[in-house]
Amino acid sequence: MKNPPSATPHAVLVAGAAGFLGSHLCERLLERGCRVLALDDLSSGDLQHLEHLRRHPALRFVRHDITEPLPTEARDCERLFNLACPASPAYYQRHPVATVLSSAVGVWRLLELAQHTGARLLHVSTSEVYGEPQVHPQPEAYWGHVNPVGPRACYDEGKRCAEAMCLAYAAERGVVVRIARLFNAYGPRLRPGDGRVVSNFIVQALAGRPLTVYGDGLQTRSFCYVDDTVDGLLRLMDAGFTGPVNLGNPQERTMLDLAERVLRLAGSRSRLVFEALPADDPTRRCPDITLARHHLGWAPRVPIDEGLARTIEYFRALSAQAGARRAQGSVSPSAAYSLSRL
Ligand SMILES: NC(=O)c1ccc[n+]([C@@H]2O[C@H](COP(=O)([O-])OP(=O)(O)OC[C@H]3O[C@@H](n4cnc5c(N)ncnc54)[C@H](O)[C@@H]3O)[C@@H](O)[C@H]2O)c1
Repeated sequence: MKNPPSATPHAVLVAGAAGFLGSHLCERLLERGCRVLALDDLSSGDLQHLEHLRRHPALRFVRHDITEPLPTEARDCERLFNLACPASPAYYQRHPVATVLSSAVGVWRLLELAQHTGARLLHVSTSEVYGEPQVHPQPEAYWGHVNPVGPRACYDEGKRCAEAMCLAYAAERGVVVRIARLFNAYGPRLRPGDGRVVSNFIVQALAGRPLTVYGDGLQTRSFCYVDDTVDGLLRLMDAGFTGPVNLGNPQERTMLDLAERVLRLAGSRSRLVFEALPADDPTRRCPDITLARHHLGWAPRVPIDEGLARTIEYFRALSAQAGARRAQGSVSPSAAYSLSRL
């Protein structure tokens, strides 16, 4: 399942390349023989995610905010992947202006580039465009139920605006666009402190601290392992379908189910503590992936326990590395990853 047969050309721009998903995407594009122009402003990403690729001759990293005019070398890229936007509520709610601009202005810059050069653009959107869904599971045809002025609006409405802009440029100016609506991806390189449920539970379980469950824990999400998600993005870029496509795992799980799995796989005896559900937190999420199956031949393959075990392994290794660096006195406070602090 690594790399589907592809006509992917060689010069590819990845915006948001130092993020969780962007770094995995860069890796896979380099494996395919692409040249990758990796852009990131490092606002929620981490250059460490690209460290193992630093000497790769086909990767060029430029620290760049995509709401600003794009670097000239972007004009050489035949395909543009836009992942540049913080994805964790804890992060984007602290930076709502940057978040909404990264979606709306960032995608506009890339669309203008695509119109000018004839590049194809894949914009990474989100299941959050469905808000608190009244249709379940969510098909792409569902318009969603989003609070346009709530604490999540900078993210949800920014993404909805970006989708609208992509389709406007496709309809009026002939730009070739693809839109992926992702549902809760997880895996190695999630950041330990960024507030997403999988990384929160794992970090807490490994530290022997209580797992924080919001609400009664019966709210659901659908977790898709990063390799499957990236495979879906690569297939979608190559496919001939213009409208939004859901990429997510149709196996819906409660937070309590996730917590139980993490505890078992991490060998942890942590207990659960319950806190109030954050405002506008959706109570259920499950993708209808009929379109992805049909147009991309895609469905997730990595079973949840396998994906979680790989992710737990990653966090164990990260913790051990940070511990070793601390012991040598060579770790900066901001880079320090201390399980006991989280
Ligand atoms: N991970 C998920 O479960 C998930 C689900 C739905 C949608 N998505 C979307 O996928 C994309 C990647 O998500 P992720 O989980 O890797 O998040 P992430 O925060 O790890 O990665 C986002 C990256 O974009 C960079 N960035 C943000 N604003 C930028 C700007 N203006 N210019 C340049 N770079 C900028 C950040 O520094 C970061 O490296 C995001 O667009 C997110 O909305 C992710």
